[in-house]
Amino acid sequence: MKYILANWKMYLNYEESVNLAKQIKSLDTEDNLIIFPSALAFKEIVSMGFETGAQNVSWAPQGAYTGALSAFLYKEVGAKYALVGHSERRYIFGENNEDVRKKVESCFDVGLTPVVCIGETKEDKDESKTQYRIKKQIMKVFDNLDIGNNKIIIAYEPVWAISHGGEGQPCTPADAEDVMGLIKREILEYTDNEIPILYGGSVDEKNVLSYVALEDCSGVLVGSASTKIDSFTEIIKELSDIN
Ligand code: PGA
Repeated sequence: MKYILANWKMYLNYEESVNLAKQIKSLDTEDNLIIFPSALAFKEIVSMGFETGAQNVSWAPQGAYTGALSAFLYKEVGAKYALVGHSERRYIFGENNEDVRKKVESCFDVGLTPVVCIGETKEDKDESKTQYRIKKQIMKVFDNLDIGNNKIIIAYEPVWAISHGGEGQPCTPADAEDVMGLIKREILEYTDNEIPILYGGSVDEKNVLSYVALEDCSGVLVGSASTKIDSFTEIIKELSDIN
């Protein structure tokens, strides 16, 4: 059984979200499907019986934080997961590794499972700094982190491989395998807990199996293709066939 995370980003309005969820509901999957809808469609998607996660949470639990939505507030309406440190949050909205760490801890405080996104930028890759970037991001998350009974998931998302409006340049499975192996080894420096590692970045129905076949890959984080019912149906079918 694999994880299939559908990150709808800001692609869909309320009505489109509900309609897509209805279509997804009719698909049969034994995999661990988790939907990350917009905040405005969130409760509706929860009420349809889906496992859900927040696309982002603020690290403060409650109070005078205009426009923010905390892990606490998401938990209250049925979220089980939260994306933390997505590259669009890091590089468009300026969040840093310290913010990411505080968000992980705020998820633990209320019992949400953080899905922490890590990955190198195009610049890192061109300057051969992929290992450096990954090790640093992992250190900032796991160093002296009290995991206790909490769960945490890591998503390897090379920033340059993430699609914008549907056009992306996927990472080769061989490159993904190398970095995911590094991630696994690095995490072991900090904890013996079982930490699932997912791949994300231009995953679609044509390449999904090549990622989930990798030894260290527990599933996929899908953006653009998860908002198109034809592609997403195929992704779910491809994964069902290997169960
Ligand atoms: P993509 O997005 O599948 O559209 O590349 C993945 C992500 O950013 O989580």
